[in-house]
Amino acid sequence: MSRIKVIPFSQNCGATVSGVQLSTLSEQQLHAVRNAFVQYGLLFFRDQSLSPEEHIQFAERCGSIVMNKFFRPVDGYPGIAEVRKEKNQKTNIGGGWHTDHSYDEVPAKGSILVARDLPVVGGDTHFANLCAAFDDLSLGLQKTLLSLRAVHSNRHLYGEGGYYSTTDLADQLSGSDSVGDAVHPMVIVHPESGRNALYVNPGHTIAIEGWSVDESKALLDYLYAHVAQEKYICKFDWQPGSVVYWDNRCTWHFAQNDYHGHARLMHRITLAGSRLSAAGHGDSLSGI
Ligand code: SIN
Repeated sequence: MSRIKVIPFSQNCGATVSGVQLSTLSEQQLHAVRNAFVQYGLLFFRDQSLSPEEHIQFAERCGSIVMNKFFRPVDGYPGIAEVRKEKNQKTNIGGGWHTDHSYDEVPAKGSILVARDLPVVGGDTHFANLCAAFDDLSLGLQKTLLSLRAVHSNRHLYGEGGYYSTTDLADQLSGSDSVGDAVHPMVIVHPESGRNALYVNPGHTIAIEGWSVDESKALLDYLYAHVAQEKYICKFDWQPGSVVYWDNRCTWHFAQNDYHGHARLMHRITLAGSRLSAAGHGDSLSGI
């Protein structure tokens, strides 16, 4: 059996895991993958050959599967969501920075995305590290953020008259009557690593609790620009056989929409998380 290798992908963003096949992970290898997931929050795998059944098996070894309410499921596999763009479509799913399911009261722990049909060029996915970005804020701003909560929603995306209903993805998405909101601390303590993570995202966070829309926008825009800096982000170029497993509690991602005229199909499984806890004041802060 080959040895598992975990190598940082960039300064602050993710790790590449090699020397394993996710379809046949030993208990020891699974343990190493779990540890890497806690440490990096974003794992890239190449040259996998995961059937839908094996995708589900790997997901179930990492947690329990939660259904996406809006995406079309893969035929015969209700736990796998299709992230599909046809060659004649202009809109893609997840084309702006976001975190999966932050609009749920108990948001998703992770997502496992498998490449199924890729454009010859383009269609990369970008990721950001929300622990590193939080750690680099000033102590003053960190303390302010610790006392705040933010409202997350999906109404503006999947609800009646929402963004996707105005696009050429409208027929492919459903669930406009399942939309809802949730309120979460703006800084959470990661349930497994114990690190603090900024928990707001441009896709789903609509306001800071108790603040006006304009006030919320001013602070959120500042935080979004901070996170999107080169030093916290990375870009993954998909190849046939690529799989990415990310932690929604400490990363953002977005799918670049730069391959019009070509199809792209990914299979995504989302894993259930636990209720998020606010980070505490005090010694755990490492602001500048
Ligand atoms: C997603 O937002 O979950 C999809 C990302 C991708 O298609 O690269």
